[in-house]
Amino acid sequence: MSGLRSWRRTHSCGELNAKEAGEMVSLAGWVHNWRNHGGVIFIDLRDKAGITQLVFNPTSDPQLAKRAAQLRHEFVISVTGEVNLRPAEMANPKMKTGDIEVAVKELTVLNESSTPPLHINDPEQSESEELRLRYRYLDLRRPALQRNILFRHSVSMEARKFLWEQGFSEIETPILMKSTPEGARDFLVPSRTNRGRFYALPQSPQTYKQILMVSGFERYFQVARCFRDEDLRADRQPEFTQIDAELSFIDEQDIYEIFEGLMKTVFSKCLSVDIETPFRKMSYEEAFCTYGSDKPDLRFDLPIHDIAPVFKNSSFKVFSSVLENKGHIAAICSGDSAKFSRKQIDKLTALVAQYGAKGLVWLRVRDDKAVEGPSAKFFTDEEIAALLKTVGAKPGDMIFAVAADKKVCYTSLGQLRLELARVNDLIVPGEYKFVWVNKFPLFEYSDEEQRYTSVHHPFTAPLEEDIELLEGDEYYKARSRAYDLVLNGTEIGGGSIRIHQRALQMKTFELLGIDEARAKEKFGFLIQALSYGAPPHGGIALGLDRLIMLMLELESIREVIPFPKTTAGISPMDNAPDKVSQEQLKELGLSLLEE
Ligand code: AMO
Repeated sequence: MSGLRSWRRTHSCGELNAKEAGEMVSLAGWVHNWRNHGGVIFIDLRDKAGITQLVFNPTSDPQLAKRAAQLRHEFVISVTGEVNLRPAEMANPKMKTGDIEVAVKELTVLNESSTPPLHINDPEQSESEELRLRYRYLDLRRPALQRNILFRHSVSMEARKFLWEQGFSEIETPILMKSTPEGARDFLVPSRTNRGRFYALPQSPQTYKQILMVSGFERYFQVARCFRDEDLRADRQPEFTQIDAELSFIDEQDIYEIFEGLMKTVFSKCLSVDIETPFRKMSYEEAFCTYGSDKPDLRFDLPIHDIAPVFKNSSFKVFSSVLENKGHIAAICSGDSAKFSRKQIDKLTALVAQYGAKGLVWLRVRDDKAVEGPSAKFFTDEEIAALLKTVGAKPGDMIFAVAADKKVCYTSLGQLRLELARVNDLIVPGEYKFVWVNKFPLFEYSDEEQRYTSVHHPFTAPLEEDIELLEGDEYYKARSRAYDLVLNGTEIGGGSIRIHQRALQMKTFELLGIDEARAKEKFGFLIQALSYGAPPHGGIALGLDRLIMLMLELESIREVIPFPKTTAGISPMDNAPDKVSQEQLKELGLSLLEE
């Protein structure tokens, strides 16, 4: 019989239970754990499906038990043995295979392992991230990482199936493309055959998917890799994956319905969680002024209240001077003021200061008429009564207020709101709160460029009712037909209805300070394509990595990407990015500046 045949498995390590008691089975896998109890060797054997306990008893085969005693972590072995019920007191109800063990009769060592630098069986994954990524092939053996990666596979398969059923076709678009301004910095690839010219890696398939609409495909999708040279965070990688889609002859409502359906399907099929649809919809203005963010976390309430009307005649300098300068005063009412020591309040004050707030006014609510706090003496009884009513405070609550310009006021309170949710333990695990945020401003002022720029991209259509504004001086007040999908305070997707008519497109470019020649140079092919009978169209891209991270309630997208980069953009396993030889540079016609 061939060597291969001898280690043929009859079962996986995740399936045996009392039903198989008495059967002879063959298993293969890695030594996850080993224990020597007075000469009786217990091995936890691991494969992709799970873990099964093996036992080698010296009283039945002393030679075999001796060989088993030599086994170490991560040796690859195959065994044949009899499935036995464990004695009742030894059963492990937490394990799928916890009722049985396999009494081994034959053992083959398929491969030995050096002592692993990571403890595969340490569920805490307590090593440094650098070490984990350097030995990612071992890290990925961990049951938790295996689960994440296989879960990701099931989500993308279900998404593909769902979109196919909805009439979408998966169409690939180039990875080597022209550098087009899309928000972040491009990764560039020098061309050897066209010296001095560069490809760019796509920040997203945006221009191609619009062109596919011009070409008449009507419903495109792609599980697409995107590349952005930007600063990294827990939910950002330089290369990441989108479920990217574009549709013709549709409006916002079609997008909402299809992608709510997609979410409902993947949550139900992959997580057995029933998601309620339709999702809530909220304008950017409402999100910003109620939650201090364009990605509100709706797992808890803690709304921000505009309290400027209460203090319009205030003698409190901090408030009156801000109002004189057309600023804003807003507040959050947090429960249980006893939670907030002076030290805690100082920390919160430092937090809002990071977002530009010059101070944090705090008031403990004593009863339905009185508040305490360093600023309380400046307020009249009427102001206090109106304040308590506006923020809905009850005795024992704590009120925090910020006075500043609109952006600082709401952004800092938005951050405070998130912190208050943590302090008050308001986030319940296993909750999934979706919201569509829409009606974003079309333009935003860039201090750096000293001009208005697009909030999304220049192909985003304005709201129908705001098109007229584009002709006047207050064009910057126009809102767009862009929408973001937000889950638990993280933006998991974004898109828009696009401009498909040349005249409106040229008007938008003009307002952005991009003249016709420059528009042609930057986006020539797309503008030209749009001039040949482009259908009305729009689309969306969902961040697959972020979606998986949130579905599994993890803290970082690096846990759901097989081979991620560190926050410094490095892959410690293969040492990318790396230096290249002088010859390689020369061939590309490049030379490096002195460092
Ligand atoms: P946008 O830039 O909003 O839209 O990206 C869509 C979604 O992709 C995810 N995402 C990221 N995930 C991980 N790491 C990153 N660096 C990163 N950057 C973005 C987010 C985000 O919501 N072409 C448009 C879509 C369209 O208009 O149809 C686009 O790319 O979850």
